[in-house]
Amino acid sequence: MTERAASRTAVLVCQGRAVADGRMGVGRFSDPVAVELLVDGERELVDLVRAGAVPKGFGARMEYELLSATSEVLAARTVAIDDAVRESAHPQLVILGAGLDARAWRMPELAGVAVFEVDHPASQAEKRDRLGEREALADVRFVPVDFGRDSLGAALTTAGHDETRPTTWIWEGVVPYLTPAEVAETVTEVAKRSATGSRLVITYPTPNRVYHYGRKAMEVLLSVSGRTNPMAGEPQRSSWTPAAMAALLAEHGFSVTADRDLQSVAVEAGIEGKRTSVRADGHIVIADRR
Ligand SMILES: C[S@@+](CC[C@H](N)C(=O)[O-])C[C@H]1O[C@@H](n2cnc3c(N)ncnc32)[C@H](O)[C@@H]1O
Repeated sequence: MTERAASRTAVLVCQGRAVADGRMGVGRFSDPVAVELLVDGERELVDLVRAGAVPKGFGARMEYELLSATSEVLAARTVAIDDAVRESAHPQLVILGAGLDARAWRMPELAGVAVFEVDHPASQAEKRDRLGEREALADVRFVPVDFGRDSLGAALTTAGHDETRPTTWIWEGVVPYLTPAEVAETVTEVAKRSATGSRLVITYPTPNRVYHYGRKAMEVLLSVSGRTNPMAGEPQRSSWTPAAMAALLAEHGFSVTADRDLQSVAVEAGIEGKRTSVRADGHIVIADRR
């Protein structure tokens, strides 16, 4: 992501939640705010996918399939993260790379919780425009940070994060866009600010050549058909085996409570989908500071 460009993948995953809302995992998954954070030109594709109206043109079909697959992944990972947040019920929630995450605007359980929305400054500015005057359910503090450049710890201190009280950290859909060194640096910062009982929830891609080349092929097809490629400015920079992720977390004092692939989460939550292998390659790890 360049310094000035707001994240396009944040829009794509928000569209994915808007597609899934009320259609997938009903009773377990819900994000009615997602569609409201989208602007004209972003909602039309959501409507098409929700209607199952497969377009005829090649480029339009590619966009349709990408969003359709994204919605199947997003419904699963949202359910698993929401459950982990409710279970920990800590007074502070830090959302790293928050994008268009609407938890602070849709989860009544967060009333009274200090929610720190950390994101790249460009992405965060765009989110604030999209939110307009919308009232949050939680006590939201916006914290602009570029993980590759800025000090997360200093920014959180300025925003009022209290490192002596337990925190739940969400790091959803961000790890793939960071180098292994940036991931390790961020975990180091998180660990320094995690009182006993704190919980870190991370989604991450496992190494998989089929997925990697599938994504590349999708990007090429979108480009040659003249469509916008939402992944263009955000190349994938890291993937992790569950063992490597557990080792990194252990090094920083977190022990893994659960590490699951998103396909098994989806099956358990009754979220149907055709892209079982894409979901199986994505993992969610819940790690606690004991
Ligand atoms: C795919 S979006 C995920 C957004 C959100 N967590 C979600 O799941 O809806 C990736 C997010 O990572 C953020 N991001 C990527 N690289 C970053 C960096 N170097 N510093 C801060 N944020 C970054 C982007 O701004 C974007 O909001």
